[in-house]
Amino acid sequence: MTWRDLMCGDARPDHVGRELTLSGWTDTRRDHGGLVFVDLRDHTGVTQLVVNPERSPTAAETAKEIRNEFVLRARGELVARDPATVNAAMPTGEVELHVDELEIVSRSTPLPFQLDEEGVDETLRLRYRWLDMRTRRMQANLRLSHAVISSIRRTMDGLGFVDVWTPSMTRGTPEGARDFVVPVRLQPGRFFALAQSPQIFKQLCMIGGLDRYYQIATCWRDEDLRADRQFEFRQLDLEMAFVEREDVLDVLEEVVVDAFSALGRAAPPRPFPRLTYADALARYGTDKPDLRYGLEIQDATEVTRGSGFGVFRGAETVRFLTAPRAFSRTELERLEEVAREWGAKGLAYLVYDGDEVRSPIAKFLSEKELTAFRAEPGSTVLFAAGDEATVARVLGGLRIHLGRELELASDDDLFHWVVDFPLFEIDDDSGNWTFLHHPFTAPIAGHEERVAGDPGNALSQHYDLIWNGWELGSGSIRIHRAEVQQDVFRTMGMTDEEARAKFAFLLDALAMGAPPHGGFAMGIERFVALMAGEPNIRQVIAFPKVSSGSDPLTGAPAPVPDEQLRELGIRLVDEPPRQPH
Ligand code: AMO
Ligand code: AMP
Repeated sequence: MTWRDLMCGDARPDHVGRELTLSGWTDTRRDHGGLVFVDLRDHTGVTQLVVNPERSPTAAETAKEIRNEFVLRARGELVARDPATVNAAMPTGEVELHVDELEIVSRSTPLPFQLDEEGVDETLRLRYRWLDMRTRRMQANLRLSHAVISSIRRTMDGLGFVDVWTPSMTRGTPEGARDFVVPVRLQPGRFFALAQSPQIFKQLCMIGGLDRYYQIATCWRDEDLRADRQFEFRQLDLEMAFVEREDVLDVLEEVVVDAFSALGRAAPPRPFPRLTYADALARYGTDKPDLRYGLEIQDATEVTRGSGFGVFRGAETVRFLTAPRAFSRTELERLEEVAREWGAKGLAYLVYDGDEVRSPIAKFLSEKELTAFRAEPGSTVLFAAGDEATVARVLGGLRIHLGRELELASDDDLFHWVVDFPLFEIDDDSGNWTFLHHPFTAPIAGHEERVAGDPGNALSQHYDLIWNGWELGSGSIRIHRAEVQQDVFRTMGMTDEEARAKFAFLLDALAMGAPPHGGFAMGIERFVALMAGEPNIRQVIAFPKVSSGSDPLTGAPAPVPDEQLRELGIRLVDEPPRQPH
């Protein structure tokens, strides 16, 4: 038996006159007084079936029962359409199948939503993901994801990287999120952590002499879900021995450029620009700036020293950005709200509206200040004053808001690196120094002494890859000497015993001939979502979780029977709450 001689999207005038069998889903069914038209669909497209009672009375009987999404098999002759009925908008629009035999292979209950319906609640789509998957959008996204991963594998294989499988069930990996833990029946009271990343294992692969490792690694992190975050996601994870930063960046640029080419898109020019962390924060107020628009932050701390405006005079840092629009009072009130959401105490401004300057603060400013802030008519200068971190955050937040509201972004795909991050930051909870990314990042050359002596001023060999304001991936050159690793743990407030209790295997390995090494991890779903122009990584994942952390399709996570808990040595403190929706 033949299911299909042709895919539904492939019927062309070349096939006219042939007897063909097609199978697929009913996209639409139209009854024109006995003559039934069915658009038969598979992932390649649709072909129109024509069921004519005069040609086949049996097929016509069957056609009466057909509803949307029924699976059909149709056999007939491919015929050129009447010129008046040719549909130029469809690749198969010049032909149609005149049906001789029609079989309903599989029926469908009434649908919870129509595939082409706009505005369907996403949870409903996810509950019936197998239907949602039949849409062109989901088909395109899942196939794009596959194409990206194939391209990545080709590049990595070509560069001599070896795919090594590392465990998912392991000890906690410090990547800054919480672990998902797995109880163990054979050892009640003990838990595996699901790997937040293969970080330590890939370093061990370098110490083990693998030289170049990669993996499309699934990672698990218990953190709040957002547009660019899921509990489980994949990384292109890689590590290289005997390299410096530029060698690693080179590989990633090749991966990105190859993926663009594989998808037939204009590749971004290499080398991708490098921006230091300090520069990124000062000029854009964030370590992952969107460079598709300017709107650069400028410093006014010097020029406002001793200002007649009290807010400026008393502030550690004063900065501003100039928006290309003379905002109205209502717009300024909205912007002040945005600034306050980012932690500002207010929003001082100068509006250059034609010949007029509208501002409650202009009268306090000196000529020198006014000259420094002068802008074109039709613009607004927005100020933030306060401590440096708050000022950067507020103006960074306003910059993103304005970029979006004023639609300033160009259509370019802009990639760039951010380099020279600090090694440590203060942990707000404990007051201790803690790592900015993970504790295995090496200090830059010459800053080794600062790890113990001056942690706040130690820069790291960490780097991030940014695409249009999204953090696509991170990596670093690692510490390859046990003493430096010990110093980092000590600076973080760990005793040597605590460090050994958690990381003895790494410290021992570092002490047994560790080559210099470094690597990177790029988020696959973020990369694919950006490629697809999707605002949320859920749209490129076959079976994602919604923001409450549940899977509407299976209903997971779910309670487990008491018996199973007993076997695992677990007693619940409280009854599990009823399932959230
Ligand atoms: P990092 O923690 O920065 O680095 O992760 C690397 C990249 O993984 C992606 N990513 C995520 N994607 C979806 N959902 C999430 N919850 C999520 N968390 C991270 C992002 C991110 O840039 N071991 C280091 C890498 C290294 O140093 O080599 C690491 O995992 O795209
Ligand atoms: P005030 O002197 O508090 O009445 O504020 C005068 C103007 O400065 C108002 O427009 C405030 O919104 C603004 N402003 C107050 N605090 C700050 C700040 N920290 N940064 C920028 N503008 C501020």
